[in-house]
Amino acid sequence: MTIGETPVDIDRGTAYELGPPTFDTDLIEVERGTPAGELLRRYWHPFAVSTDAGRSPKPVRILGEDLILFRDGSGRPGLVHPRCCHRGTTLYYGKVEQNGIRCCYHGWLFDTEGRTLDMPCEPDGGRRRERYRQPWYPVQEYHGLVFAYLGPPEHKPVLPRYDVLDEVAEGWELVADDDNIGLEGDPTPCNWFQTHENVMDPFHVFVLHAGFSGNQFVAEMADLPQVSWHFTEQGVKSHQDRVLADGRFFHRVTEVAIPNVRIVASPFVEFDGPATSVAWTLPISRTETKIFTLLKRPIGQPRRRALYDGKRWSELTEAEHREHPGDYEAQVGQGPVTIHSEENLASSDKGVTMFRHLFRSQVRAVAEGRAPVGVTDDPEQATFGVRAGNYIGDRADVIELG
Ligand code: FES
Ligand SMILES: [Fe+2]
Repeated sequence: MTIGETPVDIDRGTAYELGPPTFDTDLIEVERGTPAGELLRRYWHPFAVSTDAGRSPKPVRILGEDLILFRDGSGRPGLVHPRCCHRGTTLYYGKVEQNGIRCCYHGWLFDTEGRTLDMPCEPDGGRRRERYRQPWYPVQEYHGLVFAYLGPPEHKPVLPRYDVLDEVAEGWELVADDDNIGLEGDPTPCNWFQTHENVMDPFHVFVLHAGFSGNQFVAEMADLPQVSWHFTEQGVKSHQDRVLADGRFFHRVTEVAIPNVRIVASPFVEFDGPATSVAWTLPISRTETKIFTLLKRPIGQPRRRALYDGKRWSELTEAEHREHPGDYEAQVGQGPVTIHSEENLASSDKGVTMFRHLFRSQVRAVAEGRAPVGVTDDPEQATFGVRAGNYIGDRADVIELG
């Protein structure tokens, strides 16, 4: 049997011949001490919305580490290791006070940076209490998200800012959310990298979102665009270019930045210009992922969601999920961790290949003692210029934008 000129042996290629699955560990690991986990730990990560930090200790998981988030009585957020440094019970049962969190077992009190302020069973409240420190991580808030830095203290960078988020027009507001591609609130049960690299895969929009499951976005997004990919200083961007029915040129730019920043303009093409949101793909653990988003919108306007045959994703029955799959089905469908040895990347996967290449180079940089891209200790240098957007107009005018 032949297809074109290539002879094909119909008895080969059965699943019986599949080898044992292998993974590119530099893309999937998140844990402390792994090369990729150490790259991830050189950046700030959003892991909660500001209202999650309150007087009730909240368990959170970030990069495979279980931690406790709280906000003390003077409004400072704190993120601490759950096991009390006295004799190890969990601070999940602690009580939050004006200046910190108090362990339920023997009452040691720790401030938001882990300093022991009180040891009520010891003479004078603990004469050497400054010797004991509850393991903690630095946190900072930005526009309603709480960010943590889980890396080596001597390499802690400035928390980046984003130009589009710092300029909010009159009549607009900025909102933070942790909605995911499917489940609201719960993590998505797959590795973060397969979710993240999807942003550099504009072709799936044409198939999954505009054809296979009906058009989930808007008419402007439904045609197959001309796609190209480009490295940026800190990541990769894709250009998706189309001529609209009315003759205008639609230059859509999507970008990712090392390690896990994702900037995608609204697929509903509501606004012409730079993206109105910035998001992060947070590895909760090796097999759990959450997306945190900061979103600008006209005050009170609800966020537009993809509809599946007129319904929201969370309202679908199993049969309807099969009828109208979306990002959740496609990405969780790749398995808890996609099997790299069973992939066949093609020319339309170039953006995925470029991002993987860049990510591996940064894993190597950190392993070799160099600083990864996009980190700085200079606040003047810490503003990220967003390129992503929906730019519509004359070709000559919009092609240079983004
Ligand atoms: S175990 Fe926390 S105070 Fe004793
Ligand atoms: Fe998608």
